[in-house]
Amino acid sequence: MAELKLQHLDKIYDNNVQAVYDFNLDVADGELIVLVGPSGCGKSTTLRMVAGLEDISAGRLIIDGKDITTMPPKDRDIAMVFQNYALYAHMTVYENMAFSLVLRKENKNVIHQKVLAAAEILGLTDQLNKKPAQLSGGQRQRVAMGRAIVRTPKVFLFDEPLSNLDAKLRGATRREILLLHKRLKATMLYVTHDQTEALTLADRIVCMSMGHVQQIGTPLELYDMPNNLFVASFIGLPPMNFIEGRIKDGRFVSPNLSFALDDAQKTLLAAYSDKEVVAGIRPEHILKGNDAVLKVTLNENLGQTTLVHGTVGKQKLTAKLREWCDYERGDEVGITFENVHFFDKETTNAIR
Ligand SMILES: Nc1ncnc2c1ncn2[C@@H]1O[C@H](COP(=O)(O)OP(=O)(O)OP(=O)(O)O)[C@@H](O)[C@H]1O
Ligand SMILES: [Mg+2]
Repeated sequence: MAELKLQHLDKIYDNNVQAVYDFNLDVADGELIVLVGPSGCGKSTTLRMVAGLEDISAGRLIIDGKDITTMPPKDRDIAMVFQNYALYAHMTVYENMAFSLVLRKENKNVIHQKVLAAAEILGLTDQLNKKPAQLSGGQRQRVAMGRAIVRTPKVFLFDEPLSNLDAKLRGATRREILLLHKRLKATMLYVTHDQTEALTLADRIVCMSMGHVQQIGTPLELYDMPNNLFVASFIGLPPMNFIEGRIKDGRFVSPNLSFALDDAQKTLLAAYSDKEVVAGIRPEHILKGNDAVLKVTLNENLGQTTLVHGTVGKQKLTAKLREWCDYERGDEVGITFENVHFFDKETTNAIR
């Protein structure tokens, strides 16, 4: 398989829109990288530069030590799976999966073996004689993956492959992709705007905003130690709560609530005395306690947990309590906080 290096990649489109700024990433052999970020942040552009479907404006792309920055897509040995499958309607599943190999004038027996093997991996053995129109959305997406697998490419690229599927199928197909990755041990770049997909699939996540990489790290690193307010708000569901305030006399103080800092936090925030900071608290890190009183606006039961939405003064907060709750609007719940993140209000960077 393959190692991939993206070095200082820029993309400036013809209309002078810069979609990607100085993108740097070393992908290890067999690694599954997920590019995540909101619509328009440059995910597809980055992927398309790797595929060779967009020119690279500046920087270099290296695969297994070889510079492929200007190599035509067909020579790159990279397979891309798109959101909209792009299957040939008049061909059977078998013919769709075999097509790229037929174009390459592969031996017929080799083609047959490869298609059967890919169909087996993807659970499509019984569907090979059907046309795409006779398949479900999930099956079509698997055919699209099959077309990539038969090529045994060096690198697989996926651009939001699950976004046309309903929620249940998306979960199931996501698990299939994870199993596929473990089975093929292939190098993969996977684009999504869905943080759940990123957290569940990735060996490492690249979180992007407006063309800039905000953080690269394992799912746990991005969840536990977000670099800045953007990453903190993007990763985690429901999103982190943010409270603007100041550090004063060993306390975090905001107009609506305040709490004492522990020794570690005092050390961390020593340089921020009387300065503005943002406290970030994940809903799952709000517990029942005595630091503030949450006035409930909405109670959402999720089974093992309950999302309790409410306010402390004018500050809105969402707590995810690890029990079944039946609060009514207006009820008051004593709460406390653990694992509080602090961010510099001016730079938006995490205070470490
Ligand atoms: N062919 C193009 N010409 C000019 N600008 C483009 C072109 N393609 C994309 N852009 C712009 O580049 C930026 C990044 O687009 P890109 O498609 O990479 O975003 P994305 O992260 O994949 O978003 P989405 O989640 O909506 O697919 C956007 O501002 C977009 O409008
Ligand atoms: Mg896109």
